[in-house]
Amino acid sequence: MARRKIIAGNWKMNMTPSEAVALIETLKPLVATEEADVVFCVPAIDIIPAMEAAKGSNICIGAENMYFEEKGAYTGEISPNMLTDAGVKYVIIGHSERRQYFAETDETVNKKVLKAFEHGITPIICCGETLTQREQGVTIDFIRQQVKIALLGVSAEQAATAVIAYEPIWAIGTGKVATTEQAQEVCAAIRTCVGEIYDEATAAAIRIQYGGSVSASSAPELFAQPDIDGGLVGGAALKPDFGKIVNYK
Ligand code: 13P
Repeated sequence: MARRKIIAGNWKMNMTPSEAVALIETLKPLVATEEADVVFCVPAIDIIPAMEAAKGSNICIGAENMYFEEKGAYTGEISPNMLTDAGVKYVIIGHSERRQYFAETDETVNKKVLKAFEHGITPIICCGETLTQREQGVTIDFIRQQVKIALLGVSAEQAATAVIAYEPIWAIGTGKVATTEQAQEVCAAIRTCVGEIYDEATAAAIRIQYGGSVSASSAPELFAQPDIDGGLVGGAALKPDFGKIVNYK
């Protein structure tokens, strides 16, 4: 069965609640499609107004992060129940910015992935190498390690529903998009890795996105690759251009 594309925006730390509502009103008609899942991952404080603004549209509201405990003395964190109660179905886990600035590790990513599944939230699990790692020729080894640790203890049934976002760190926010060949090569390697951990069926079902300077001009070729099932989009998700990315065909 053909995998359904999933095109997600990662708003990062942008948009106040009222700006979020205005942006969704603008983008709603532009991102309308029946052909792909469209997800806007927004700052926690924007989730509820964004949900309201997106009502009746094809836009699904996701979160950018979540903690791996149920509740308690974790000042400033957001629990899985808070997300599900607000209607959230997707959460980005382990974005490279969270690894870099907020000390997330493969181990905390794994805990969050397990917790998200426990609550029926689909994780968008991020991985990606630095420029140095690419130059050292260890990209695939590094990505395989990130993916394997992220999926520890995850069942095949759960993994089949997960989303993995391959985001080379050197391509994020730099305007320097990976070549189609580079993106396809790593996404294919991720699928092979998932096949090794589980089986062919799981590898064939899991959705793998590319992220890093995706634009309206680069999206069509990237998303046409056999192992790229859509994108995780930063900067361009905050503009009308996101409509072109969603309707890339
Ligand atoms: P840009 O599209 O701005 O490069 O960001 C990519 C990203 O980090 C999405 O998670």
